[in-house]
Amino acid sequence: MKDVEVVLLESLDYFKDSYIYHPVEYALMAGGKRLRPRILSLVGDIYRAPEEDLEVLMMALEWIHNYSLIHDDLPGMDDDNFRRGQLTLHKKFDEATAILAGDALLNGASELILRHSLSLEGARLKNFLQAGYLLLKAAGSHGMIQGQMVDLHPSLDQEDYMKKTNELFYAAFMIPLVLVEADGQERGDMELCGRSFGNLFQHKDDLDDQELDHYNKKDLVILREVMDKALERLESNRPEIKQLRKFIQEALYG
Ligand code: IPE
Ligand code: IPE
Ligand code: MG
Ligand code: MG
Repeated sequence: MKDVEVVLLESLDYFKDSYIYHPVEYALMAGGKRLRPRILSLVGDIYRAPEEDLEVLMMALEWIHNYSLIHDDLPGMDDDNFRRGQLTLHKKFDEATAILAGDALLNGASELILRHSLSLEGARLKNFLQAGYLLLKAAGSHGMIQGQMVDLHPSLDQEDYMKKTNELFYAAFMIPLVLVEADGQERGDMELCGRSFGNLFQHKDDLDDQELDHYNKKDLVILREVMDKALERLESNRPEIKQLRKFIQEALYG
């Protein structure tokens, strides 16, 4: 499997000759941790999902994540001036460019998925489209966007707050299983892992931002217990599984 950073660098080719190339490059190459495509790659290794299919979905996932951050920083949303230690895109360029760069990344993600699907057939095509659907749905109106709506409108029922973060993580954990049609217990175990990871990651982020009204201690204890259980279920000596466990522990508690 190619390195995530190489895959993302190559993904910029898609924007070549577009006026949006430099703004997108500025945002995408700013030193994000690449957690979502790394998870996709690690879980993909465990299930031996087709590498080319994984690579396309790694790009699409990281593009969607970056679009969500560019828009999240806009004055109409969180109104932030810095992201990853550099000026936010609307501060470096302008608001219109930031809106359009986000649009370009989101639209581009769908384009990448459909373009790649044209080269596939049979069961592999069906599984790939199913995985693409899972990703776009996770980012959509009942997923990440629902979470962002809730976050930005305190009068709305806060139940879906975690969706702003956990939906994309969930997609990262589940996509490889969809690509290889895994089912039954394997699916259940990874689902648990994906959901708990996203929730705990958001909690860690809120802790750093001192924004903890969404939690009470009891919920957190439960979340951690669920994550520990999920990690126990992933107990195995296979090196690929050990790597995923190590990654999860470092990302959450490191
Ligand atoms: C930040 O996500 C925003 C949240 C969803 C909590 P990351 O911490 O994964 O951001 P980067 O990509 O590494 O900058
Ligand atoms: C970002 O959440 C979630 C999405 C962009 C979907 P936050 O607003 O809490 O994350 P930061 O603090 O800006 O990274
Ligand atoms: Mg926000
Ligand atoms: Mg924000």
